[in-house]
Amino acid sequence: MYPQHMEQSIRKVEATRGRRLREVLPRLRTEAKDALLRAHHPDFIAGGMRRLEVGPNRGDSTPVEIAALLEGNIRIDPDKVDLEKIDYDVDVLVVGGGGGGASAALLAQENGANVLLATKLRLGDANTVGAQAGTQAADRTEDSPAIHYLDTIGGGHFANDPDLVEALVKDAPSVIKWLEGLGVIWDKRPDGSMHELSGGGASRLRLHSARDYTGLEEMRVLRDEVRNRNIKCLEFSPAAELLIDERGQAAGAVLIDLETGHLTLVRAKAVVLATGGMGRLHIQGFPTTNHYGATADGLVLAYRAGAELVFIDTMQYHPTGVAHPVQILGQLVTEKVRTLGAQLVNRGGEQFIMPLEPRDVVSAAIIRECRERGLGVETPTGEVGVWLDAPMIDLIRGEGTVARELPAMVRQFRRYHIDIAREPVLVYPTLHYQNGGIKIDVNGATTVPGLFAAGECAGGIHGRNRLIGNSTLDIFVFGRRAGRAAAQFARESRPGSPTLDHVRHWQQELERARLSGQRPASPLLLPDYARRSLNVGRIRPA
Ligand code: FUM
Repeated sequence: MYPQHMEQSIRKVEATRGRRLREVLPRLRTEAKDALLRAHHPDFIAGGMRRLEVGPNRGDSTPVEIAALLEGNIRIDPDKVDLEKIDYDVDVLVVGGGGGGASAALLAQENGANVLLATKLRLGDANTVGAQAGTQAADRTEDSPAIHYLDTIGGGHFANDPDLVEALVKDAPSVIKWLEGLGVIWDKRPDGSMHELSGGGASRLRLHSARDYTGLEEMRVLRDEVRNRNIKCLEFSPAAELLIDERGQAAGAVLIDLETGHLTLVRAKAVVLATGGMGRLHIQGFPTTNHYGATADGLVLAYRAGAELVFIDTMQYHPTGVAHPVQILGQLVTEKVRTLGAQLVNRGGEQFIMPLEPRDVVSAAIIRECRERGLGVETPTGEVGVWLDAPMIDLIRGEGTVARELPAMVRQFRRYHIDIAREPVLVYPTLHYQNGGIKIDVNGATTVPGLFAAGECAGGIHGRNRLIGNSTLDIFVFGRRAGRAAAQFARESRPGSPTLDHVRHWQQELERARLSGQRPASPLLLPDYARRSLNVGRIRPA
């Protein structure tokens, strides 16, 4: 149900639908894409970034919100932590309870390690469960890991770490089988073969899905598996600092109980960080698709311990976040809607971008349409957006396709009396993903010995822009690799004594640098909504 002025625009969308059914916009040439990105993508907004002044990436640019946390004050006083009172002594500590963390824990245990998994909220509260469209893997005869490699590198603007991409695409088919073996119910055709779709920047059908709740289904089986194998899990226990031994090797972590504030000390021979992304920092005021705990903690912990970060100046704004109704502002409208045939149109009902260009390009085009050309649709709450013309899907693929392929989307909008099989939905870019992160090698090893990273907190795999379905792939590929490598490291390494000396050293460095402005305590752990207004997609400031 839309207000009248939006209904008037919808009439225009309906009027052009017949013509648009035959209208295929060409893909943009590289120079045109680059110009569009430079002019309109938030990564290029002057004032949105600043250079780091302290730490291994000193001199590198990153969004001001991330810089503030990376250069934040320590949260716990090392002099008040009794390092003699160890609460858990394990081989491998996994920090993070999403798809990456669960995969790492399973593989570490399979490889002989005694594992503890600590997570900020509940096991499975992670961006993994919000992933909708699917998981890429080249397992059809018309496809190959080599083509998947080329698509991924092209989508990443040729900046990706080639070794990481090779690992990603080569492991992909076995990851799909592994997940199926654990119980994932993939969408299949009547003959039993995989029902695969394509997506922005992908040249083949290789997206494996469970309708439009793929990540939820993947996490369902992983959570069961972690529980069934009796892997010890500490919930509501985010890491506040890493422990590092006297030789600079990861030696565990200090966890903080979110309910009581008590500290728990975990000594470990190897640590895997799988803490996810940063959407809840609301960079440049954007709303986000991310879960409540996505506050860049892993980046902060690793950075303070001396780990190098990569591509921290590039964030992913998913083109189709909800712009109306305001109750679900910024929630994901899966790319699968465009994969199935929906077009993006302005308030006059005209297409302005080929809907399956890579995400950064589509987002920049939507921002241009609304901000520069003034052809967006304003909502009653002062947001602006363009139409995603979902009713085209049933016209192209037959009545009932929306209901069958997109049940989560149908439900999400039905609550607000919007029938996406009959009416378009209003969208605007939303903060979705951190393209970069902690530098890793093909086994998830960071530049700090004994410290591994996997999933969204790790960087290099996707270069400067990630393709659809490569994230729910990378969490499993590198979660598994990191878990296996951490178990091996734990077997072979000589454990030292845990210290918090790096934290003292960090605080001294901050003081020496005499940074201007206020420095928050970090890691942030939970978002602070008391002082925040979301205003980027707005016509009027909040
Ligand atoms: O659009 C989506 O469903 C998101 C998928 C992804 O980020 O890979």
